[in-house]
Amino acid sequence: MAEIVILPDADAAGSLVAREIAALIARTPDAVLGLATGSTPLPVYRALARLVADLDVSRVRGFALDEYVGLEPGHPESYRAVITREVVEPLGLDPDRVRTPDGALEGIAHAGADYERAITEAGGVDLQILGIGSDGHIGFNEPGSSFASLTRVKTLTAQTRRDNARFFASPGDVPMHCITQGLGTILRARHLVLLAFGEGKAAAVAGAVEGPLSASVPGSAIQLHPHATVVIDEAAASAL
Ligand code: GLP
Repeated sequence: MAEIVILPDADAAGSLVAREIAALIARTPDAVLGLATGSTPLPVYRALARLVADLDVSRVRGFALDEYVGLEPGHPESYRAVITREVVEPLGLDPDRVRTPDGALEGIAHAGADYERAITEAGGVDLQILGIGSDGHIGFNEPGSSFASLTRVKTLTAQTRRDNARFFASPGDVPMHCITQGLGTILRARHLVLLAFGEGKAAAVAGAVEGPLSASVPGSAIQLHPHATVVIDEAAASAL
């Protein structure tokens, strides 16, 4: 059973999780962070940027959850670019120590296995930040994903493409495919911290935390984890 923390708003949640991560880095200067994109973790990164000003982050490593397949290199909405802009630069991390899955078409056949190997060689993820999609997806593990899945290419659902269209010039520009850590990959992280804010996430949170373990709600995989923390606001908690 995940520990559930309900806070008044996203900023309070961001501060709490940022303090946890800063404490981890202070204890373990070569900590491995699991990084998520999307709007949800932004308050964490903002608060963490203030806290790490006093810490040595030169040895911290990071692994992003996912990436779109087939965007041209440097595309501003590629998750590599997003992680650089929102995490690497504000926190002052070494860009060579932060990886995203490689979504380039050439090499896509072995990109998943390469990524799994890199995470394993880094010693595994110490703390994995997670958002949740309105359809219950984590990373880009859409409904139907196996709980044992590893990093691989997936097809985005129509709902996720609609949800993410706001980041692109037109809905047709949202890629059809992504490469994402699997639920099995995510479950290997030593601590999972799932964040969700707003009423639009209430059903997904309820399904993940209280629903039956089901591939239809990929977030429900967190119930299998011995150390999962769910940090949400009142609105996201409203269906619990
Ligand atoms: C995206 C990402 C997920 C993220 C989710 C929710 O599709 N791949 O990692 O958790 O959608 O996004 P947001 O936090 O913007 O609601």
